[in-house]
This record gives sequence, structure tokens and C-alpha cells, in this order.
Amino acid sequence: MTHDALENLSHEDRSFPPSAEFAAQANGTAELYAAAKADRLGFWAEQAEKFVSWDTPFTEVLDWSNPPFARWFGDGELNLAYNCVDRHVEAGYGDQVAIHWVGEPADDTRAITYADLQADVNRLANALTELGVGKGDVVAIYLPMIPEAVAAMLACARLGAPHSVVFGGFSAEALRSRIDDAQAKVVITADGGYRRGKPSALKPIVDEALELGAETIQSVIVVQRTGQDVGWVEGRDHWWHELVASQSPEHAYTPHNAEDTLFILYTSGTTGKPKGIKHTSGGYLTQAAYTFNNVFDIKPDTDVYWCTADVGWVTGHSYIVYGPLANRATQVMYEGTPDTPHKGRLWEIVQEYGVTILYTAPTLIRTMMKWGREIPAGYDLSSLRLLGSVGEPINPEAWMWYRKVIGGDRCPIVDTWWQTETGAIMISPLPGVTATKPGSAQVALPGIAVDVLDDQGVAVPDGHGGYLVLTEPWPAMLRSIWGDDQRFVDTYWARFPGQYFAGDGAKKDEDGDLWLLGRVDDVMNVSGHRISTTEVESALVSHEAVAEAAVVGAADEMTGQGIVAFVILRSHAAADPDIVTHLRNHVAKEIGPIAKPRQILVVAELPKTRSGKIMRRLLRDVAENREVGDVSTLADSSVMDFIKTGLSGGGE
Ligand code: WTA
Repeated sequence: MTHDALENLSHEDRSFPPSAEFAAQANGTAELYAAAKADRLGFWAEQAEKFVSWDTPFTEVLDWSNPPFARWFGDGELNLAYNCVDRHVEAGYGDQVAIHWVGEPADDTRAITYADLQADVNRLANALTELGVGKGDVVAIYLPMIPEAVAAMLACARLGAPHSVVFGGFSAEALRSRIDDAQAKVVITADGGYRRGKPSALKPIVDEALELGAETIQSVIVVQRTGQDVGWVEGRDHWWHELVASQSPEHAYTPHNAEDTLFILYTSGTTGKPKGIKHTSGGYLTQAAYTFNNVFDIKPDTDVYWCTADVGWVTGHSYIVYGPLANRATQVMYEGTPDTPHKGRLWEIVQEYGVTILYTAPTLIRTMMKWGREIPAGYDLSSLRLLGSVGEPINPEAWMWYRKVIGGDRCPIVDTWWQTETGAIMISPLPGVTATKPGSAQVALPGIAVDVLDDQGVAVPDGHGGYLVLTEPWPAMLRSIWGDDQRFVDTYWARFPGQYFAGDGAKKDEDGDLWLLGRVDDVMNVSGHRISTTEVESALVSHEAVAEAAVVGAADEMTGQGIVAFVILRSHAAADPDIVTHLRNHVAKEIGPIAKPRQILVVAELPKTRSGKIMRRLLRDVAENREVGDVSTLADSSVMDFIKTGLSGGGE
């Protein structure tokens, strides 16, 4: 990220204060800012008492005596499944729908009440116990968007068995490496799920992962979703409907320590090896529930909330499972893609279920813009009262379209900035307080401390850009990288000692509002999914035809960034006319279809400095069709001319 890019933001004058009616009924009020400012830790203690039921109350809020290793509410005990399910049933809400599940095939729906969810979670907890899963054993979850995914996560939480959810679009090799890193004991999967009108298989991918390695896996639990044929290993594989149905719907839970691991979630870093982000229980639930309540303004008796993320990403963890369920929300969960069987599917669901709060990603909004406003105009969207955005910077044009076309110019938009590592929302408007501004996530939530620093680590004044940092520990913060404390320290806490370096560029505008400007490291953000350049490079060079590869993220109108790869082929491969297709498929096989490069350019040389470092900046110029920048540090400055002239025929 160059300084020019950080500084050159146009000025934004449009401002949308909440209506008086919205403000009058809002959960989050301006007093929250004042209370958090007066006594930050006292404020968090209050949220922890308000949103969480503790089996053993905590006496200590934060232990920061051994930074960057934090302990929040460290002597408290709780159970997350109890907090998300049982306590609502106890309070008389067993018949309230927790999940309106919508399958992709027409008319394939299920309504799951809190009482149903309780029985499912308990049965699975009993089944896992029977399979030998106890506290501290890691369970991998590789499922489509079906309610069993939610029950599986909660059953693990109930037992104190950390879950590691792996997005269903990841490959066998990606699944294998995540299972091995976490030494998972059980995998919970399905025969398949429905995507784009077809059953897509998951179980064969698990089988392949278990052939490649993953030797710690003792049992595989398989949900029957599509009914397709699957391979079977007797003794190891169990059908969910056989194993779970026979269990008792009662399960007496044990409370867990606030700092016991709740889950591991792998995310891309700047090296090829994905990082297992470790989250614990008490602080995580506190911030997930507090943010869900105040940012999404949930009224559990009347709202119908819908988050379009997949449970395989952190948004699904915090804002499909833990935040909403801790708040006793009723939500929609959708299995499929937005254009199946037609491009109005999302709006049809909003209309049918009377969705009031919608949380989605800018890529989806831009896709809807491209499809045209006539599509949402064909549905009654008047139930909507609040809109959210997450995952990437939202450009003002998409923000305005979201507000006008989807929100009928009446719904506040909350642009929420956070990360897998932060566990919960950090920067966002409060919908009943903040006058929102198109394209800006605006200010840190009450209780959260952020700043923007220059290269020297000095805070920049308003009107300037730099690096986003979090200056104080927060309850839902990652506690470490699974099995690699040193990498945790080096990745997040070394760049600006004592402060958490988020890896994002940001600008403070004249009003002090924050604008997120994308990653400043080698992590790409494609449709809101984090993928590292090195990961894709390693996948490419693992193909026998490739001698060398360099990958960059290039600006993409629809997906935020697109993956562009430059490869040097081994001589025997140069004659293969389909090499680009083979390489794209190879990357999909190694990582998953989301990592398929948008373009692969076959080149004879890569631009390198005299010390041999690839100059990605120049490749990015090429990939974004810009005048190539300063080449004076190149070992051989003619390389860029060759790359550019070779371009016309090289892409796909
Ligand atoms: C980006 C997703 C701008 C950012 C919750 C961050 C955003 C990365 C926003 C984390 C936003 C997320 N505005 N950029 N509102 N939200 N990002 O871990 O670059 O999948 O570092 O977590 O997404 O992605 P992750």
C-alpha cells in the first residue's frame, strides 16, 4: 500500500443520522461510549454480567501481566451451549424458532426451535462422549450450511472439546493439513450439500484427506443430506441419524473455565501455512453477545435476523452461532447460492420470512448491483429495518445502492470491521446513535481502542492514513496461534511493540472517522475470503510443470481483489496448450475452488531485485493494467518489457 493510496480519498459529505423512531428504540445508546471511556474494564465486566450466565462468577476482569497473552474473566466458569440454548428453554422460550433453515432445493425447509436445538445438541454431546471425545479433544467439522453444523459446534462447546470448522469449499489437502495441525480426533461431515442446483459431495473429500494423512482421526460422523452414494469404513464411519438418534436428549453439562479453548479457526497468513487462530470462552462470548445486541439492535421477540455468511468463516461462528443464539435470536440460515434457482432467491427469502436484519458482504451487494435493481424490486422488502456489511471495504457506491435499493432509504447500515483474530466486531456504527457515512466503518465500538499509526509507530492526525492497530486488549481477542506462540507474537505484536497490528491500512478522515483500505501484507481478500499469495504460490510450484510462481492480488470490481499468477514453466511443459487450465484446477485441488487464480500469465522471467526478492509491486501494476512503476532496483530492467509484451496472449 503506497502512501498516495492511503491519502487520496475523496471527501464524503453524505451523512445519514438514524431516524428518531429508530434511535428511540435502539439497544445501543450514546451512554455506552461514556461508560466505556470512564472505566473500560468495569464496562466489560458489566457486559460480561449482562450477556453471559456464569456458573462461577469471575472476580478478575483482565490479566495482562504477560502480554500479549491475555486472560479475560480468568477465574469464571461457564458453558457456552447452556448460554446459547438451555437458558432460553429454561426461561420458557423452548417453542421459539431458533433457525428457519432454507435448503437450496425448493420447499426444502425446516424450523428448529430452541427446544429442538437443545435436544439435538444433547444427543450429539452424548454420541461424541460415546466415541471417546472428552474435554480438550479437537473435533473437525466439515459440513454444508445445514442446522447440524450449528448443533455440532454447540455440542463440542458443551463438552469443552474445541471445534475446528473447515469451510466446505476447501480441498482434501487443506482439510488434511488442518486436521493434522490440530490433531483432531473426530470429523463431522455430510454425504454432501446442495450448491447451484446440484448435490456436491463432501464425504469423498474427507475420505481422501484421511488417505493423505490425518491419522489422528478415529471416527467420522456423516449427516445424510443428499442421499448420494458414499464410501464407508466400518467401525470408523457412523451415520449421524443412526448414532445420534438413539441417544438421550438429556445431557448434564460441566462448566468450563473462561479461558478454556472454545475453537480453532484456520485463516491465511503471510506464509503458506495457515494459522490456527485460538479463541477461548468467556471473553469471546461476552463480546460476541454484546456486539450482536448493540450493533444489530436485536429484539428477540420480533426480529428475524439473517447472516448470509458460511459457518466455515468467523462471521458464521460469531454472528450465526454464538452472538445470535446467546441473544435468543430467531434467524434464517440458507444452504445455497444466491442465484439458485433464480437471481431473486435472497429477496424471496427476505419476503417469505419477514427478515428484519440482514448481514452480508460487499461482494454480494456488488453482484446484486450488476444483476440490476429490478430483481429486488420484485419483492416486498419492507420488513427490513437494519442492514450490515462485513468482510471487505464497501465502496460508497455499493453502500448507497444497499441503502436505497435494499433498505428503502430507511434502514441504517452498519459497516462492521473485524477479523478472525478479533473474534467479534471492533469498528462499526451504533445504528441508533451514529450518523452513518457511505464507505466508512467510522469509530471503534465502546470498550474497543484503535488507532492509525505511521511507519514509525506514531499516531497520524485526522486526514491522514497509515496502519490500523488495536491499542488495548479486548475480550474476544485471539489468545494465540494453535501450537505456535512465537508466530502469534511475531505476526501481530512485533511490528508495533505493545499494540496489535491488524495488517490493514486505514485512514482517519477530517471528522476522525475510520476508512478501511484493505490489507497491507501479502494477504489477498477475494470476495471477503482471506487467501495468502504464498499459499497460492506454493500450490502452483507443487505442480510438476511449474518452475517458479509469483502471485498478486489485483483490484477487481466485483470481488474486491482477484488472484493473478505469473508462472515460469519448466521447458517440457511449455508446449502444453491447456497448461493454464491444468494449473487453475491444480490450485483448486490443493487449496479449494476459492483460490483458483482469475488469471495465470505464463512468463519467461519474474522481476527480481539484485538480492533475488520478487517485486510484487511491479507485477501488481501489470495485473491492474497500470503504467509500471519504478524499475530501478530490478536486477534486469528489461524483464518488465518482456512480461508486458508477452501479456496479450498469455492470460486466460
Ligand atoms: C477485511 C472477517 C473493510 C480486513 C470478519 C480484515 C474489512 C479482513 C471489513 C479479515 C470491513 C473485514 N471493512 N475491510 N467492514 N471487515 N475486512 O479474518 O482486511 O475473514 O483484516 O474476518 O477482512 O478477514 P476475516
